[in-house]
Amino acid sequence: MASGAGSNFQALLAQIEAKRLNAVCSFLIVNNKNCGAAQIAIANGIPVYHISSVTHPDPLEYEQAFLDVLKKHEIDFLVLAGYMKKLTNSLLMHLKNRILNIHPSLLPKFGGQGFYGRRVHEAVLAANQGWSGATVHLVSGEYDNGLILGQSMVPVFINDTPDTLAARVLVAEHNLYWKTLRDYAASLGY
Ligand code: GRF
Repeated sequence: MASGAGSNFQALLAQIEAKRLNAVCSFLIVNNKNCGAAQIAIANGIPVYHISSVTHPDPLEYEQAFLDVLKKHEIDFLVLAGYMKKLTNSLLMHLKNRILNIHPSLLPKFGGQGFYGRRVHEAVLAANQGWSGATVHLVSGEYDNGLILGQSMVPVFINDTPDTLAARVLVAEHNLYWKTLRDYAASLGY
């Protein structure tokens, strides 16, 4: 599931393509039809489902729309790659301990409601941290709060801006996500 540019999504697909990650991407769910991630999915022949409060104004139908996708495609893991909306409870229950997310900080630092995108890196710089990084974690009901599965550190430099730091963390994200998914799946016997 994604909402943005889709570089993490693309990086995961590249690892699948290179046969380093033994997986198949069954579909992409987006809340924003025109996001970069949706374009990447289309270019790769991956089905895209647009589910939002615009497409499904009724909350019950909105909730059901996610379950309908899961009925259509049998999946082992749901991977959030820059998905900006809170997941519905029924989706969380349906895939308990099978939903992963990536966050651009060393959680539990700089996570939770309000810490997304550029704001994370601004906060890291404002707090004079020597290190930042990326975290892959299981998704619980609360923002950025599930079990941490993997982390990768990057240095923060004295002349960093939120943009330069974000770019360095993003590279770490791309290297971390597929390995963490691979190792977590292996730990469950896949
Ligand atoms: C990443 O920084 C990710 O950690 C955060 O949203 C950003 C998504 O970037 N959750 P992209 O769409 O994968 O390029």
